[in-house]
Formats: sequence, C-alpha cells, structure tokens
Amino acid sequence: MLHNLGSINLDHYYRVPHLVQPGETLASHGYHVGQGGKGANQSLAMALAGGRVCHWGRLGRQDSWVRERMADAGIDVSHIELVDEPSGHAIIQVDDQGENAILLYPGANHGFTRQHWEQLSHTVRDGDWLLLQNECNGLPDLFHSAHARGLHIAFNPAPMSDSVLELPLEACALLFVNRGEAAWLTGLAETSASEILLAGLLRRLPTTPTVLTLGAEGAWYQSADERHFQPAMPVQAVDTTGAGDTFIGYYLAALQEGQSVTRCLRLASQAAAIGIQRPGAADSIPARQEVEARLNPQ
Ligand code: RIB
Repeated sequence: MLHNLGSINLDHYYRVPHLVQPGETLASHGYHVGQGGKGANQSLAMALAGGRVCHWGRLGRQDSWVRERMADAGIDVSHIELVDEPSGHAIIQVDDQGENAILLYPGANHGFTRQHWEQLSHTVRDGDWLLLQNECNGLPDLFHSAHARGLHIAFNPAPMSDSVLELPLEACALLFVNRGEAAWLTGLAETSASEILLAGLLRRLPTTPTVLTLGAEGAWYQSADERHFQPAMPVQAVDTTGAGDTFIGYYLAALQEGQSVTRCLRLASQAAAIGIQRPGAADSIPARQEVEARLNPQ
C-alpha cells in the first residue's frame, strides 16, 4: 500500500488572455472550480492507474464532495478528516498558450499535528510507501518518523521552498523533481542542460534514485548505477496544471505493480501527455485504459 499524506485543494480556474501583470486588472473569459492539490491529484492519478493508495488529508467540512469523489475513484479516504476550517485552495490563471500561474492558500492542509504522524506510523505496514509533497506542514517530523518506521519515502518537493533544503532528502527511496526544483536543490541555473542537472543531482544525493521531469524535453530516471531517458510524447498543451501530479501517480502505480523503470516512465509520460491536452488538474487525469490504448494502438 502507498500512503499519501498530501494536500487537498479547491482549484479556482480563470482562463485569461495572458497571465496578469503587476498592477494590471484583467478580465478572465472562463471560470471553473474543481478538485486539486498536488497530494489529491497524485492520489487520484495513482488510483486511476489501478494503484492502491490511502490518502491522509484535511478538508473543510463544507467541501466533503471532494472526499466522496476521491472515494469513488478507488482511493482509501478513511484518513481524510473533515474539519471546521477553510479547505486549502488555489487561484489558477491559465493563458491561451496553456501556461499557468498559481496562488496557494494552504488552509486545512497546514493543520497536521504530531497525533496524525503517530497515527500514520501505527497504521502502516512494513514495506509500505509514504508519498509526500511540499503543500502540508510538518515535513521534518514526518520525514523523521517515516524513516524511523522503515517506510519507503517518495517525495515531490513542490512547490519548492528553502525549507526543503533542510530536509534529510537522502532518506528518500524516490525523489521526483522538475527543472526548477532540480536547479534549486543543486544551486545550478534553471537553464542548465539536462546532463548538468543530472550530474548535479547525483553529486547532491548520490544514493537517492531520482526522476527528473522536463516537460516537452522528456523525463529521466537516475540512480547511482543506471540512467533511463523517456522522450515526451509530442502534443499541443491546453493546460499543463497537474501534469507533474499525473506523471507521479502513474509512475508510482506502475512501480507498485513491479514494472521496470522504462515502463514506469513510459506509462507516466503518456498519462501526462493526455492530461495536458485537457483543462483542469484532477479533471484532466486519464484512466488507465485510455493511457494503454494510446501506448498500444490497435
Ligand atoms: O500541481 C497542480 C496543483 O498545484 C493544483 O491542483 C493546485 O491545487 C496546486 O496545488
């Protein structure tokens, strides 16, 4: 089983001609509210890929439909607490080129306490995985107790912040980073060639298997003794929001099935490529059948 202690957000989407500039007032030409949050998106992608995932989260009572929707997708939601606090939410602008800008309010995602972490470490079984992102509070304590409990930690340090640099990232069994996160972790320029970023990641975390996602430039897997590259599937992006989350959920579901690294990368890349051709975060995540059909057309 994979346990995902992760954010659940309400995503407020605004379609805009361009991302709003400082001091500018801009009218949007589309508005929509949907399920989001890196944590919830990753759990949903994993469940839609056929993986077994238990989500640990906190959600405002008034938004309980999100928990029901996650349960309908096959996620174990017994550890999603409904609380008398506002849910986390995101204000998302998406422009006509599919580029986005996101403003986050953490809300209930920042209400985790030691009690939650203790409950988690009593609930998990030996060999379980714990997936984390950087949208919930308490990561240092969680890293500590998960490592002591012998869990396999998968970590996606998004959205990146300086506090991530203080975490014992060498405790991760798998790290997922994009270009910006890799640059932040290594101190290299974001414009560095992928080879340079991979070498920097290996210097910084020599024993931590890492997946580097580079959008249209493809994705890499790197460990101390192997490297694999997966080119991106060429598609026209409508909205890239949640593409990284789709990739991670699919990758982890394939890993849970015992698939090879190359198969995990391929499945995850295809799922993300389908997702970016649709608007929304959670709403854009494809089902496994569709992903397989694209990979193996009749
Ligand atoms: O990765 C996309 C997600 O980031 C959105 O769903 C939004 O809620 C933010 O957490």
